[in-house]
Amino acid sequence: MTTMAVAVPGGLPPGAIVVTSSTPLWYLTRATGLVALVLLTLSMAFGLLSSVRYTRPAWPRFVTIGLHRNTSLLALVFTVIHVVTTVTDSFVSIPVQDAFIPFISSYRPLWLGLGAIAFDLMLALIITSLLRTRMSYRSWRLVHWGAYLCWPVAVLHGLGTGTDTPVRWVLGLTVGCVAVIAVLAGWRLAYGWPSHAAARLAGALALVLTLIAGGAWLTAGPLQPGWARRAGTPERLVNGSSRANPAPAGRTR
Ligand code: HEM
Repeated sequence: MTTMAVAVPGGLPPGAIVVTSSTPLWYLTRATGLVALVLLTLSMAFGLLSSVRYTRPAWPRFVTIGLHRNTSLLALVFTVIHVVTTVTDSFVSIPVQDAFIPFISSYRPLWLGLGAIAFDLMLALIITSLLRTRMSYRSWRLVHWGAYLCWPVAVLHGLGTGTDTPVRWVLGLTVGCVAVIAVLAGWRLAYGWPSHAAARLAGALALVLTLIAGGAWLTAGPLQPGWARRAGTPERLVNGSSRANPAPAGRTR
């Protein structure tokens, strides 16, 4: 298995390279990560639609609830494959505990750690939902609020860890996911929870500030050359890439 740097067609700035691996498992990690993110976004979207009690004659509420449940389970399946391929691939050593315990990894510790947090939250959300009839509604709901943390943390993980972040269609896909959730969360804040005006206003403010801060971080961080090193990629991988495909200083992502 070799470590190499390749130019990604159709999207990267000229001269930019990405640190990547040639193994099918690493490709699978990247592909399943993106599919898991889309499914998690759909699950979140159907959850939000269900919370605003969206219903039409041709779209009864049980359809939304069924889609919410099934996209959540599918998101879990793809995340598990994403984790298994990451752990099995020998491109970098990422032991299984790194998938559950945040910030202990030697590979991009902060950004991989956010993936671990999202995964732990996802497991908690799905396990408590499967056991819903055996626990109080209050406890289930408390855990379910974790979805509002799980999804943005997963988005940050994908952008911070992902090799493909600057590729145009991947960036477009992620921005599309964020736009869908921002609109539905805005709808939820505008129409749901009528008796909590102050909390809704605080939520709307937090939403806008998060979007602005997220956009600024993305522009100054993962989209800039040299992100691989700044994100905490082990030095031997960053150096290995320059040996295989020399790039102008500072152009290694
Ligand atoms: C809810 C949970 C998770 C979601 C939705 C998710 C999603 C993603 C996405 C969208 C990417 C970017 C892929 C790309 O740029 O092509 C990614 C990258 C990655 N994820 Fe996750 N992830 C999750 C949890 C985890 C966990 C727990 C691990 C730890 C084993 C992990 C390991 C990785 C690695 C190593 C990469 C970098 C792959 C690359 O080089 O592009 N992820 N993830």
